[in-house]
Amino acid sequence: MWLPCGCTSKYVASSFARRTLASYLHVSGRSRCNVAAFMPEAAGLEGVSGRAALRELSVSNSESFWAAVARHRLCWSTPFHTVQDCDLSRGKIKWFEGGKLNVSVNCLDRHVHTCPERVALIWERDERGSEMKYTYGELLEMTCRLGNLLRRHGVKRGDCVTIYMPTCPLAVASMLACARIGAAHNVVFAGFSADALAERIRDAQSSTVITVNQGVRGGKVTELKKTVDTAMQSCPTVKQVFVAMRTDNPVTMTARDIAMEEYVFSYHDGDVFGCVADIGWITGHSYVVYGPLANGATTVLFESTPIYPDPGRYWDMVERLKINQFYGAPTAIRLLLKYGDQWVNKYDRSTLKTLGSVGEPINTEAWEWYHRVVGDGRCPVVDTWWQTETGGICIAPRPSDPDAEIVPGMAMRPFFGINPVLMDTEGEVLTSNNTSGALCMAQPWPGMARTIHNNHQRFIDTYFQPYPGYFFTGDGAYRSEEGYYQITGRLDDVINVSGHRIGTAEIEDVVNQCPAVAESAVVGYTHSIKGQGVYAFVVLKKGIDVQEADLSRQLNGMVSEKIAKYASPDFIQFAKRLPKTRSGKIMRRVLRKVVESDLEGLGDLSTLDDPAAVQEIIQGHEKLL
Ligand code: WTA
Repeated sequence: MWLPCGCTSKYVASSFARRTLASYLHVSGRSRCNVAAFMPEAAGLEGVSGRAALRELSVSNSESFWAAVARHRLCWSTPFHTVQDCDLSRGKIKWFEGGKLNVSVNCLDRHVHTCPERVALIWERDERGSEMKYTYGELLEMTCRLGNLLRRHGVKRGDCVTIYMPTCPLAVASMLACARIGAAHNVVFAGFSADALAERIRDAQSSTVITVNQGVRGGKVTELKKTVDTAMQSCPTVKQVFVAMRTDNPVTMTARDIAMEEYVFSYHDGDVFGCVADIGWITGHSYVVYGPLANGATTVLFESTPIYPDPGRYWDMVERLKINQFYGAPTAIRLLLKYGDQWVNKYDRSTLKTLGSVGEPINTEAWEWYHRVVGDGRCPVVDTWWQTETGGICIAPRPSDPDAEIVPGMAMRPFFGINPVLMDTEGEVLTSNNTSGALCMAQPWPGMARTIHNNHQRFIDTYFQPYPGYFFTGDGAYRSEEGYYQITGRLDDVINVSGHRIGTAEIEDVVNQCPAVAESAVVGYTHSIKGQGVYAFVVLKKGIDVQEADLSRQLNGMVSEKIAKYASPDFIQFAKRLPKTRSGKIMRRVLRKVVESDLEGLGDLSTLDDPAAVQEIIQGHEKLL
């Protein structure tokens, strides 16, 4: 099972802080948190002038680069004695050994010492126009109280606390409180079902859960506490559930539940970083919570949806909250583009300086619209490539570099300390430009993942075994004549729906639980708004006589209920059999080509057990469309 932030307490206490350096140096771009604040000379990197030279040094002499950045930008309670001890060929990743720091101290206390009144969080609540602001001082107080509360209830260093909450200040304080007391946090996206939540709680072996009575999103109430109650039926390890109140509606409390209070807030001016990701995903971790707070920025917590109450919501928010950097997902941009320019033009966007995109490839039309309409043609658009495993942005244009051109729809340039390579199918490094291959990293960097919680072998098998000596990202990429990178998409059985990653196996598991289903195969296909959609092939057991439409509805319901709505198939194709290799493996590569209607690209079918199966699948697909 995949834990979006399955991390050990050590990881929380140190690596998150380190990964936020990358965010500091990059997206915050031109505001108070800009790269100029990291002065190479002050960090002992004398003689390095210009971004390009600094990036060069960050790869050629990565050890002194990261040591200088770590010493200069973070507060350590015990200084590290060894900068790094990494060996990609064995999947061994160790940074800053001997060093100790607390990420919540780095995100809060040091700013409270200098500017306690600066706004840390702006909570853009679902109800438009009812935003709330929290200063660094208030956030520290809230975090300390929560940390003490958790401690009083027996949560200790090394425990893992599951946070099942919408994006709100209390969720941020809960994350920071865990980090403060040395507990790991396992933030589960609040859109996940009871089953998906239960699986993640069991995997993390959590004994404590923090949730809210109800969530509100897009004007609809979601019963988060009830979902937790259902999950509890299969989570015997959980001893206590803290319940905060997001709405006024009371919920049934059991002996296990503990009610939490809410705290004071006030208004102050400040720079505003508007990343609209949910905290249940990595972008929310690195660019809503840890990155901005570690750098003393004001960060927006967006609770709503881009079209609630209307498609002007983001830009109305930009005007009201005076957002300087806006960071969102292509899926939302594509959706808003369809509603027309008038929803954007209605609002004053003059505070905007940089527009960011993350989570999936951004197509040229969406990029152009974002740049021309949202950014009035004056704000650089940064297409940032990274992933949960990398901790922070790895490939992105550098708009603050005066000489750096920006090409639409391309992540373009490796970031500080990042050394990407492309591999061919034989595992050889492709050295020329104008070529495509599997995207790998040739060098470690501090923010990268160090393990998979409770499954180090899987970490090695997934990321280091495919290309020995390199970190494999699972993505394919193209390198242009000029040496710029463009991400082409996933190469493995992970799909990306509206910027949300999901393993196809997880969806197949649910579909296969239906008593009428013999087997299934799920693949992604190009979807004009969601980036990728879910396409399921289903083979029924012999002798089953059901209406396909009824069964499709049932399967969709099962996937929504057991995983999340976004994972529910857009298409379900019933087939007599699936194309398989002679050794019995489903040929998903062939299915992917069929659903993309790329029959020319079916490739080598010589290992196929029964070629007639492919013909049947093609005919079935054409009928379904
Ligand atoms: C995809 C989200 C193209 C990619 C930060 C990656 C992108 C996966 C981009 C990670 C981009 C992310 N262009 N594809 N700018 N950014 N991706 O772990 O496939 O939720 O491997 O982290 O999203 O998704 P994750």
